[in-house]
Amino acid sequence: MKKSYNIAVLPGDGIGPEIVDAAVKVMTRVSEFTGVAFTYAYGRIGGCAIDEDGTPLPDETLRIAKEADAVLLGAVGGPKWDQNPGHLRPEAGLLGIRKELGLFANLRPATMHPSLVEASSLKPEVVAGVDLMVVRELTGGIYFGEKKRYTADGQEVAEDQLIYQEAEIERILRMAFEIARKRRKQLCSVDKANVLESSRLWRSVAERVAKDYPDVELTHMLVDACAMQLVRAPKQFDVIVTENMFGDILSDEAAMLTGSIGMLASASLAEGRFGLYEPVHGSAPDIAGQGVANPLATFLSVALMLRHSLAMDDAADALERAVWAVLEAGHRTADIAVDKSRAIGTAEMTEHVLAALSQQFTNAR
Ligand code: IPM
Ligand code: MG
Repeated sequence: MKKSYNIAVLPGDGIGPEIVDAAVKVMTRVSEFTGVAFTYAYGRIGGCAIDEDGTPLPDETLRIAKEADAVLLGAVGGPKWDQNPGHLRPEAGLLGIRKELGLFANLRPATMHPSLVEASSLKPEVVAGVDLMVVRELTGGIYFGEKKRYTADGQEVAEDQLIYQEAEIERILRMAFEIARKRRKQLCSVDKANVLESSRLWRSVAERVAKDYPDVELTHMLVDACAMQLVRAPKQFDVIVTENMFGDILSDEAAMLTGSIGMLASASLAEGRFGLYEPVHGSAPDIAGQGVANPLATFLSVALMLRHSLAMDDAADALERAVWAVLEAGHRTADIAVDKSRAIGTAEMTEHVLAALSQQFTNAR
């Protein structure tokens, strides 16, 4: 195992800085117990970068990210920049860094923790035991196709091109098959093959790749049916693989099954070990700066980073167990609290996790 890693830290906007600060505290604790040193290089992305540097993704930030072993990102966006043109919106920073770093696979696990069943808006019997993973293609499709605006026949027209190449589909499917292989070996490929040509290509590539994974059961589902099945009977899913925009929508839906989007981590992976890790929830400008944000999704993102990019599996397990232990002990931030009057803030939640993490490491000795 390497003794030192270089982490690019991009706090971003809204609650981003608060939750990333908390996550760095957690990483420092991991470092103390494992003897693995982390060095942090901070960069700006999103709205704060637009304000300071005039662009949502400064070259300096890209340089820092490219030199790092992994990237930890908070969140981007806020009402302040909502009226900006496309290339000067905070989201453009996120899309740019995904493309520039080749982060083609977005993993969004949605796991229902038993002690949070009551926080879900769905019936307990529907959501208890949900454990699924959305694997979203992240650098292709309609997000990155050519965009046009023009006038034709006296009317304004807008175009967004949706293109997929076979190789792009194949690599995300292989990634999804590999992940399914390590889980319950069920892969559901989601498309709109009854309407879209790109989906018909997607489906045929999925069928071809499946021949290399005879141990994994591949099924296909249309995206509208999948949206419905996710709320009707989510336990049928193990791994879902889908294109960029469908994955954006379905992963938010899957996230809500678990009670709070404030709990969900994500990994955006390139070929090899490099990855960018961020909570699924956004910048939550309405609660920014109040010290009430739920830092757990960011902690769980750190766990994904430890596992996928830094080969520190034991530390990843310890951190995930620490988060579960804190939940089992009944500690809740407002977003996951049933009794809001007893909710705790970011700092207090972080202290509980740090204590539980130390406990995990001590037990393991
Ligand atoms: C996400 C977000 C982004 C996306 C936005 C902020 C551009 O919704 O990461 O899911 O659509 O990919
Ligand atoms: Mg989204």
